[in-house]
Amino acid sequence: MNESAVRRHVRRAAFLFDAMQFAGWRIVRLDETESTNDAARGGRAGEVYVARRQTAGRGRIGHRWLAEPGANLTMSAVIDVSGLDAQAAATLPLAVGLAVAEAFDGAVAGIGLKWPNDVLVAGRKLAGILCERDGGNAIAGIGVNVRQTRFAPEIAGRAVSLARLGVSMTVEEALDATLASLARVAAEWKDGGFAAIWPRIAALDLLKGKFVRVVQTDGDESPAEGLCGGVAEDGSLDVGGRKIWAGEAIARHVGFYGRMPP
Ligand code: BTN
Repeated sequence: MNESAVRRHVRRAAFLFDAMQFAGWRIVRLDETESTNDAARGGRAGEVYVARRQTAGRGRIGHRWLAEPGANLTMSAVIDVSGLDAQAAATLPLAVGLAVAEAFDGAVAGIGLKWPNDVLVAGRKLAGILCERDGGNAIAGIGVNVRQTRFAPEIAGRAVSLARLGVSMTVEEALDATLASLARVAAEWKDGGFAAIWPRIAALDLLKGKFVRVVQTDGDESPAEGLCGGVAEDGSLDVGGRKIWAGEAIARHVGFYGRMPP
């Protein structure tokens, strides 16, 4: 066997090893918790914390995550990122977004990704992702609106659920679909890096070609504004030729986000 064939085999073996690890998620079910991301803190890689109700669900940038008890999926998966450098690990939210989008894109037309972490349908949020570091692990928090049909006034105009889109699915089915997709995408991401999944992210990218304004809440006072070149192969967002890293950024643009259903 020549050297490149050996390398191919080693890569394939590493991928199968990662895929097997992820396929064996251990589910910890909680009736009520403040936030599954907090419950997962100190957990072991491969564990998934799922709650029927969160009393203090968290979104990015200090936002709250509101979900009707028992009607939506609120879960956090513990993923080992100890072997990755900081830049590679920082692309996890994008990988998780892809996993969630691919879990439901067979059922939902027009699903797309708004960098860095929103899964949208027709401009409304179907799912949100909050990834946090916990030592050598990352906690991938995922909220998917499944059966909820009425939303609190502050999010009513921006949220959507599978049920509102005409997709009848139980929370358990949504969990199964999410975990199967996350197992596949996380193994691809760990094995091949962000570049291995980037083409699929680019295909779902809702910001590319739009005029966007990105506000960074981490002290950088100058918002980036311009025509968006989309998510780049390194996970940054190209805004008028300037690279923006997810960190604490919020991307906004004027107009409709959604890909039109075919
Ligand atoms: C966002 O869109 O700002 C991120 C929302 C993330 C919500 C999920 S629900 C499960 C997990 N636990 C939390 O407290 N947040 C995440």
